[in-house]
Amino acid sequence: MCNTEFAARRETLLSAMLANSLCIIPAASLVTRSRDTEYLFRQDSYFHYLSGFPEPDAWLVLSNHERYAGSLSVLFCLEKDPLSEIWQGRRCGPQQAQKDFALGQAFGLMELEHKLVDLMDGHQHVYFAQGHNEKAEQLLFTCLQVLRDAPKQSKQAPTSLMDVRVILDEMRLFKSDAEIVLMRHAAAISVEAHKQAMTYAQGGKNEYHLEAQIHHQFAMLGAKNPAYGTIVGSGDNACILHYTENNQSLIEGDLVLIDAGCEYLGYAADITRTFPVSGRFSPQQAQLYQLVLDAQLAAFTYIKPGSNIKLATDQAVKVITQGLLDLGILSGQLGDNIANQSFREFFMHGLGHWLGLDVHDVGNYKIDGLDRAFEPGMVLTIEPGIYIAPDAKVEPQWQGIGIRIEDNLLITEKGYENLTQGAPKSILEIEAFMAQQGQH
Ligand code: GLY
Ligand code: MN
Ligand code: MN
Repeated sequence: MCNTEFAARRETLLSAMLANSLCIIPAASLVTRSRDTEYLFRQDSYFHYLSGFPEPDAWLVLSNHERYAGSLSVLFCLEKDPLSEIWQGRRCGPQQAQKDFALGQAFGLMELEHKLVDLMDGHQHVYFAQGHNEKAEQLLFTCLQVLRDAPKQSKQAPTSLMDVRVILDEMRLFKSDAEIVLMRHAAAISVEAHKQAMTYAQGGKNEYHLEAQIHHQFAMLGAKNPAYGTIVGSGDNACILHYTENNQSLIEGDLVLIDAGCEYLGYAADITRTFPVSGRFSPQQAQLYQLVLDAQLAAFTYIKPGSNIKLATDQAVKVITQGLLDLGILSGQLGDNIANQSFREFFMHGLGHWLGLDVHDVGNYKIDGLDRAFEPGMVLTIEPGIYIAPDAKVEPQWQGIGIRIEDNLLITEKGYENLTQGAPKSILEIEAFMAQQGQH
């Protein structure tokens, strides 16, 4: 992603804010894992979206005040410090950051508080993400108080606080051409990782061996990290929606559900495939699998501009409910089962979600209480599933089967582009692919 794209986003934000506004966007900080070790650093998505600056503890301050001709971008970041850099890693430092990231001004963090008071002075509105970052909130209120306590020096404290996410979430919902390139790439890498897992699966291997294969493939193809905790659930572990223990042996005859996607230059892919450890579906597994796939394909017909997630969900629910009735897992009439939501015992999550810098990306799903219409440039997942708990009151042949199929769809002018099309999905495709790989 180049600096002009980040700069253009800042300009879009500045012109969407009310006149005479300042905006404060904090970077993420390192989070302690235990004692003196930290979790892998991940930049805050809003901060990344507007700056591309990769270091922790930085701040971006934007203003559209006329004294800055309507556009000022200021970065505060860690100062260069040879000793800290030996221990904790390289720092860009403000001087270099200003050049490398094409920002109006850049200062060391030491100057943050007093410079922020000066920057804020004379603005009417402050935009930031309330409740998103405690440290940022404290700093903001401290600076506001300093301004309010200094009437004799003719300071003017802003009088209104606005939520910057109202603007930023809407911007992030619509992916630019450059973002779509990155999302296609994240999807393509993740497709290869799922194929690798299908190739490697065998009875006796552990779920975490498949997890390792997936992460290895991500890295070999240029994506260092997963976008979220990889789920490898074999047998009835597949019925636990956010299963991440990934520590059970694979058993021939079971299915394994893998929900995994890489993060590529900040952007997430989010793919689920469910396949037989042995490479061949049993008749019961095949019947349920086909049902989930039919539901997904039925939902796909509603993925186009003007349609919405409710229409797609209703279609998937209809297919799943009718299928469960046909298999004797539900009983009664279709309409009654849909009305009383009996399908929810077996399909208990939503059909999908926005996808982007965050795996569950930002953006409203409703506008004025109504389901928002799809528009070109939105990216979402479509991920129906059927999960029959081991103790569900159904015939034993169905118990302990969990299936989800998840793809990533870009809404286009004509309909959609399935970014994750390449991961084998039909029963025939999966069985043929696994047979071809030789271990099955
Ligand atoms: N991987 C999380 C989800 O599918 O929503
Ligand atoms: Mn998902
Ligand atoms: Mn997923």
